[in-house]
Amino acid sequence: MEFVNTRGPESGEPDLRVKIGSLELANPVMTASGTFGYASEFEELMNLQKLGAVIVKGISLEPRPGNPPPRIVETACGMLNAIGLQNVGVDRFITEKMPYLHGLNVPVIVNILGGSIEEYREITKRLEGVPGVAGIEVNISCPNVKEGGVAFGGDPKMAAAVTTAVKEVCSVPVIVKLSPNVTDIKEMAYAVQEGGADSISLINTLIGMAIDLKKKRPELANVIGGLSGPAIKPVALRMVFDASQVVSIPLIGIGGIESAEDALEFMLAGASAVQVGTANFVNPRASEDVVDGIREYVLEEKLDSVREMIGGLRLDWIR
Ligand SMILES: Cc1cc2nc3c(=O)[nH]c(=O)nc-3n(C[C@H](O)[C@H](O)[C@H](O)COP(=O)(O)O)c2cc1C
Repeated sequence: MEFVNTRGPESGEPDLRVKIGSLELANPVMTASGTFGYASEFEELMNLQKLGAVIVKGISLEPRPGNPPPRIVETACGMLNAIGLQNVGVDRFITEKMPYLHGLNVPVIVNILGGSIEEYREITKRLEGVPGVAGIEVNISCPNVKEGGVAFGGDPKMAAAVTTAVKEVCSVPVIVKLSPNVTDIKEMAYAVQEGGADSISLINTLIGMAIDLKKKRPELANVIGGLSGPAIKPVALRMVFDASQVVSIPLIGIGGIESAEDALEFMLAGASAVQVGTANFVNPRASEDVVDGIREYVLEEKLDSVREMIGGLRLDWIR
C-alpha cells in the first residue's frame, strides 16, 4: 500500500514537503514514539492534522504491562524514563487504536519492538495491509534478545538481519530507529542501510540514572532509565551528522527538539525530517509550534523549499 498525500502546499504556501522513502510528508515534523500515546490523547490540545506524521507508542506482539513505578523522573535539562515499553499488543492496537488513527488523515508510522527476529517479523506481517499504516519504525534498542542475549541495537549484524526480516514482509517504508548507546553510530547506520532500511531515525534515549540523596536510593524503581530532552540534543545532532557521512537514505533526527530552530539545526546536520518527543510533556502543542516555526523560517528566508535545509551545513569556512 502506498500512502497518498493529498495535502500538498496550496498556492502561496511555502513548500514544506519531504520524502521518507516512498512516503511523502506534508512537512518534516513527526511525534516521537512513546511521547504521544496513540494521538487521541492530544486531540483537544492541538491540531493533529498539522503533523507531518504521527509515530505511535511502541507495539509488541503480546501486551506488556511495563515496569513498576516510579518510572519517570525529571533531571537537569531532561528526563529519565523506564516505562518498560508498556503497550496493548499488536492485535488490540489494530482493532482499538488504528481506526481512530486512520481517520486522522495523517500518515501513521507504527513503532515496533520484539525480543527476537521472528517476533519483529510477525508484528510486521500483522500490520501489513492494515488501512492507514504508512510506515514501520523498527525500535532495535530493546534490552535483550533470544539469540545469545545480544542487543540488536548494539550489534551491526543483528541490526541488519532484523531490518531485512522486516523488509521482506512489508510493503510500506521501513525506518530503523538506532540506539545512541553504541561505540560507533556510523557502523550501525551503514549496517541497517545495507540490510535494506528505507530510512533511519536517531536517536533513542541515552542510558542514565538519578539518585535520591535523602533516601539514598535510585529515583527509578528500575534503577536505570533512558535520558531524553534538551540534555541529549548535542549528542543527537552529532550522531545525525556522523550517520549522514556514511549513508544515502533519509535520516530522521530526534533528541531534545523543542522549537523550529532545533528542528532546522537537525536538518542542516543531514536530517530529512525530525521527531518531537519529551517536549510534548512540557508543551502539548510543541510539535504544532515546530511546524509553524519552520513555515515562518522558510517564508522569511525565501527558500524554495524546506528541503534546501537538508544537509546544508557549511563547513567551508573552517579551512
Ligand atoms: C516516556 C517515553 C517513552 C518512550 N517510549 C518509546 C517507545 O516505545 N519506542 C521508541 O522507539 N522510543 C521511545 N521513546 C524514545 C523517544 O521516542 C525519543 O527517541 C527520545 O525520547 C529522544 O527524543 P526527545 O529528547 O525529543 O524526547 C520514549 C521516550 C520517552 C520519554
